[in-house]
Amino acid sequence: MDYPKGTEHHRAPMWTEHISRPGWRAVGAVVNQGQSSKLVAVGYGYRGAPHQWWHQQVYGGMRNAGWSEAAIRQTMANYFELTELHVHPNAQGHGLGEAMLVRLLADRTEQVALLSTPEVNHEDNRAWRLYRRLGFNDVIRNFTFTGDSRPFAVLGRNLPLTADDRPTS
Ligand SMILES: CC(C)(COP(=O)(O)OP(=O)(O)OC[C@H]1O[C@@H](n2cnc3c(N)ncnc32)[C@H](O)[C@@H]1OP(=O)(O)O)[C@@H](O)C(=O)NCCC(=O)NCCS
Repeated sequence: MDYPKGTEHHRAPMWTEHISRPGWRAVGAVVNQGQSSKLVAVGYGYRGAPHQWWHQQVYGGMRNAGWSEAAIRQTMANYFELTELHVHPNAQGHGLGEAMLVRLLADRTEQVALLSTPEVNHEDNRAWRLYRRLGFNDVIRNFTFTGDSRPFAVLGRNLPLTADDRPTS
């Protein structure tokens, strides 16, 4: 996602803390290269909870976007937050991202999956196409998280993700 070089150093403690969150699940994809293998994709998420920063940001954003308290509470009562999903540029365009997202959402106990992704013109990138293909709908558009001036969309879909929702598998 073109994060500045070195981002991994200051984000590593946060990623480490996320591992301890209830419902955490991660997936990865490796390609074999002779004797060794190389990690080409990672994704993870966990069960959202009211004390979490992302939850509080989205809660406020939904309120500002005109959602009723009841609808916000219902949506956020029991959800899986897709936190990170990345496929190395050399490995993109082969359905890996979709396979990983399907794997992440398989057999979840939550009622809803939520994620945030940067807004792009005409929703024209692989992330948007993937989320739309898998049935993610608008929750909030053009939302700015505290400390980040870029506009994001928050998207969501009900769970479970069934075989009928999986176009390519
Ligand atoms: C978003 C991202 C995870 C999607 O992963 P991906 O592996 O590139 O994409 P998908 O799994 O959706 O694959 C779809 C593409 O593979 C092609 N494909 C080939 N075989 C396929 C198969 N068996 N099944 C599905 N798609 C297949 C499709 O035609 C499609 O190509 P297109 O986008 O050129 O039309 C990845 O592009 C990425 O890491 N982007 C940068 C980081 C990012 O934006 N992350 C999300 C932040 S919220």
